[in-house]
Amino acid sequence: MLEVTGLCKGFRDESQQGRVNAVDEVSFTVKEGSFFTMLGPSGCGKTTTLRCIAGLEKPDKGDISVNGKVLFSSSKGISVAANLRNLGMVFQSYAIWPHMNVYDNVAFPLCVGARRRTSKSEVKRRVERALDVVGLGHLAGRYATKLSGGQQQRLALARALVIEPAVLLLDEPLSNLDAKLRESLRFELKRLQREQGITTVYVTHDQSEALSMSNEIAVMCEGRISQIGNPFSVYLEPENDFVADFVGLTNFLKGVVTQHSGRGGTVRTADATLIVDNIVDLTDGDECVVSIRPEQIQVMADTTPSGPNMFTGTVVTRLFTGDCMDYQIRVGNDTIRCRTPASQRYSTGKPITLALPAEYCIALRRNTIGESSERTAIST
Ligand SMILES: Nc1ncnc2c1ncn2[C@@H]1O[C@H](COP(=O)(O)OP(=O)(O)OP(=O)(O)O)[C@@H](O)[C@H]1O
Ligand SMILES: [Mg+2]
Repeated sequence: MLEVTGLCKGFRDESQQGRVNAVDEVSFTVKEGSFFTMLGPSGCGKTTTLRCIAGLEKPDKGDISVNGKVLFSSSKGISVAANLRNLGMVFQSYAIWPHMNVYDNVAFPLCVGARRRTSKSEVKRRVERALDVVGLGHLAGRYATKLSGGQQQRLALARALVIEPAVLLLDEPLSNLDAKLRESLRFELKRLQREQGITTVYVTHDQSEALSMSNEIAVMCEGRISQIGNPFSVYLEPENDFVADFVGLTNFLKGVVTQHSGRGGTVRTADATLIVDNIVDLTDGDECVVSIRPEQIQVMADTTPSGPNMFTGTVVTRLFTGDCMDYQIRVGNDTIRCRTPASQRYSTGKPITLALPAEYCIALRRNTIGESSERTAIST
């Protein structure tokens, strides 16, 4: 189990002569054998957090421990050296040695520092096992530069696994690969992690990667964790508009909470009153945005709305993406994004009816993303 508590790390900002709070009071726990992902936009502090855990960056404040052993504690004055933390790390760039073959690359961590006394037979056993796990045993003698991108990624993984780490730290390990390979390696990496039961911290800015691979996701924004939860809760029950916006596509409808009862209530938008089943941390009179995902909206050929949360609209654009139809629908002065199965096709210019089921409508506090992200009443 990995525990990170109150982690802070700032850097001097040369351009503004101030400090950047790269990591700001970050706390999370990764259970034994679980796959934990830090997801967030560029510059939100993912790599810095990972480097603090690995011991490559010295935090300003906080505590880091693995299986009860303290690796860093600002209050206790403890900082275990990186090579003694028993953590495996795969960098975005892989950082494999071009002048070594596959076998020597994997053996390298066992031949330096604290592990250099590992016996030759033990090195052989561990390297062969690590190569076996990633399916590279047959390429042990090949030079690292003569591997494909996917094979290099697996080599980097084998090199992290060979030390039998307590925790595996992966910094965007798939981002250099083409889309098809990235997708297939996602499954492979997940299978490997589950079979080997390795506690893993994974860093990515790719939301579909995070949703498909993780047991838990921490969505990060400007050095802080915005929400932690399993993939379903992060996607279906975002706690703020940043998470709703960053994790997947969503529509935002600006409004004001008019009647809050229990978990839900009503929201008055510019054009209508919406029934909303989830209102998060808001009371009557509060400004909000109602978030609803494109695939949660029902599109009907009928042009006579027959109930609440229904609107008439016109198809502005439609895209066929293979697995679905992606529509932009004009409703009043606004545009709503909807997705339907590929078999449900409406032509451009056609009037249709949209239904926004109350169970999928979530009213969130407006503008936690920042005042700059001014939005129209309905925007995507
Ligand atoms: N050595 C450094 N010196 C100064 N600023 C730094 C340093 N390392 C990181 N930063 C700043 O800290 C913030 C967080 O950087 P970090 O690399 O952790 O982000 P990230 O989430 O990994 O981004 P990306 O997705 O682009 O890799 C950024 O504003 C970055 O410019
Ligand atoms: Mg990074």
